[in-house]
Amino acid sequence: MFNLESIVRPNVLKMKPYSSARDEFKGTATVFIDANENNLGSLAGKNYNRYPDPHQRKLKERIAEIKSVLPNQIFLGNGSDEAIDLLLRLFCRPGQDALLSFPPTYGMYEVSANLNEVRIDEVQLTADDFQIPVEKVLQNIKPETKIIFICSPNNPTGNSINAKSIEAVLRGFEGVVVIDEAYIDFAESPSWTNRLKEFPNLVVLQTFSKAWGMAGLRLGLAFASVEIISLLDKIKPPYNINESTQELALAALEKSEELKFMIEEILQERELLTKALPTLYAVIEVYPSDANFILVKVKDAQEMYNYLLEKGIVVRNRSSVPGCQNCLRISVGTLEENQQLIQAMTNFPIQD
Ligand SMILES: Cc1ncc(COP(=O)(O)O)c(C=O)c1O
Repeated sequence: MFNLESIVRPNVLKMKPYSSARDEFKGTATVFIDANENNLGSLAGKNYNRYPDPHQRKLKERIAEIKSVLPNQIFLGNGSDEAIDLLLRLFCRPGQDALLSFPPTYGMYEVSANLNEVRIDEVQLTADDFQIPVEKVLQNIKPETKIIFICSPNNPTGNSINAKSIEAVLRGFEGVVVIDEAYIDFAESPSWTNRLKEFPNLVVLQTFSKAWGMAGLRLGLAFASVEIISLLDKIKPPYNINESTQELALAALEKSEELKFMIEEILQERELLTKALPTLYAVIEVYPSDANFILVKVKDAQEMYNYLLEKGIVVRNRSSVPGCQNCLRISVGTLEENQQLIQAMTNFPIQD
């Protein structure tokens, strides 16, 4: 049985959160001289002399409507990277606890674990189809394991993790299961946010950095039970989402039609790349993708990387990642960029 209090770090349960000026005064007033702001105005314009809403109320209300969850089931972070770090700090005691993840996967789980002095246990995804070997995973759960990170669709492999495997992990583990859905908007499978009620140990991460095209604004989301979200709110830096990000995100949320069109175009372009690249001499395999990138195995990734760079095209060389030997991760670009890539790779000199 999942028991939240028993896995939260005791110091977090005990601590008092920071109380901001905006928290302490509620009501109406005309003179705000309680937060050491510059009341003369802002050199950046607008109302940027004022601290932003620490609870991001308007933004959460709108996101809640769109995602069919309650506003207090949403945590907003300075990118989902902030949510990853705070989840570790919420549940894992430095030098004592551990997390479990499935490489090849997103690198920040490991970086955050190392920063927080949390042991990282790893079970490799299956070699042929990058899936979770459920039996092995359940055997690798230790008393110190507090969080399991599942990235689906997975970065850098691009595939979604089977729902049945995820469900088995959710049911077989008494700690927190984080499903990182950064790329969910490009996948056909539904989000796990639909199943939050069923699993009190589930945290779903999403981000505005991918489909929404807002990587520069830094806005990530965590969805979970009201109890888990209130603990994340307790430990976050008070003003972690700046005012312009809150305003711009609120406006972007009204552009659902444009979002749909952009996703459709990216999916069409992904399809085009998925068909064109395997026909090329230099390409060994193009892995199926549910994301806005594809993983491509070539004969010699370093040579191809250098060659593309000479042509002014930057891809991500994932060759040094175990399980991704000779693989390049290629983001889906615009029609013109993708044609440029295909043209360049077609002209890659044949070597014996
Ligand atoms: C799987 C995954 N999770 C999280 C992130 C971080 O997203 P954000 O920009 O919201 O910090 C990335 C970024 O590439 C990612 O690939």
